[in-house]
Amino acid sequence: MSISIKTPDEIDKMRTSGKLAADVLDMIGPHVRAGISTDELDKLCHEYIVNELKCIPAPLNYHGFPKSICTSINNVVCHGIPSDKLLKKGDIINIDITVIKDGYHGDTSKMFIVGKSSVKSQRICRVAQECMYIGIEQVKPGIRLGKIGRAIGTHAEKNNCSVVRDYCGHGIGLDFHAAPQVIHYDDGKVDNSPILEEGMTFTIEPMINLGDYQVATSKVDGWTVTTKDRSLSAQWEHTILVTDEGYEILTLREEESIL
Ligand code: MF3
Ligand code: CO
Ligand code: CO
Repeated sequence: MSISIKTPDEIDKMRTSGKLAADVLDMIGPHVRAGISTDELDKLCHEYIVNELKCIPAPLNYHGFPKSICTSINNVVCHGIPSDKLLKKGDIINIDITVIKDGYHGDTSKMFIVGKSSVKSQRICRVAQECMYIGIEQVKPGIRLGKIGRAIGTHAEKNNCSVVRDYCGHGIGLDFHAAPQVIHYDDGKVDNSPILEEGMTFTIEPMINLGDYQVATSKVDGWTVTTKDRSLSAQWEHTILVTDEGYEILTLREEESIL
């Protein structure tokens, strides 16, 4: 599968979708508090995406996914389904937003800590965010895609955390998930991985566990991915454009612009 190179017109559309996805995370932030259900978070995001942003929430009905956002709490690695479960003090939650505007996708997620956080929960959220940024910093034309995962894996290991292997980042554009697969650890195939070119767009979205890297998918709902050892897991995601000199973060939020 070849990796699509976006035209300037497509890049403009990706910038718009990315910005709108980032706006949803900014909107939902103040609502992420103890006592709210993930269904309510889903409803707030759905209505904002559809009515305010005039976008389509990409997860809804995607391969049968039943909701408009993913909400992954504590030992849930990814693809958590919003439900009537209430957030409680000390929970960590990833909210993953994907919107479609004008056919193009913007995909981004971040961690929220509910109420007072423990040292453990702060640590896993911080290490996962650092892993994402370290991965992003590798991006420039001419490098091997695998360098991203190698850099992420090294940072996770240094912090005694593990990188989930069963899920990866992905090319994105007209399709939600396209080539290439963006692996977040060193799979030993860096030198055979694709060479990045200006105009490629893909996500970097490392899932980092406090314990072992192994995960399992719920047999009940077919979606919810949890750590096998029940340890905490955290994930951050941005949609990235390869530029002539390096990268542009298409889903950057105001709170990050000091970086
Ligand atoms: N947003 C997720 C990603 O980063 C994918 C969610 S697929 C869904 O790739 F069906 F679970 F929504
Ligand atoms: Co993604
Ligand atoms: Co996502």
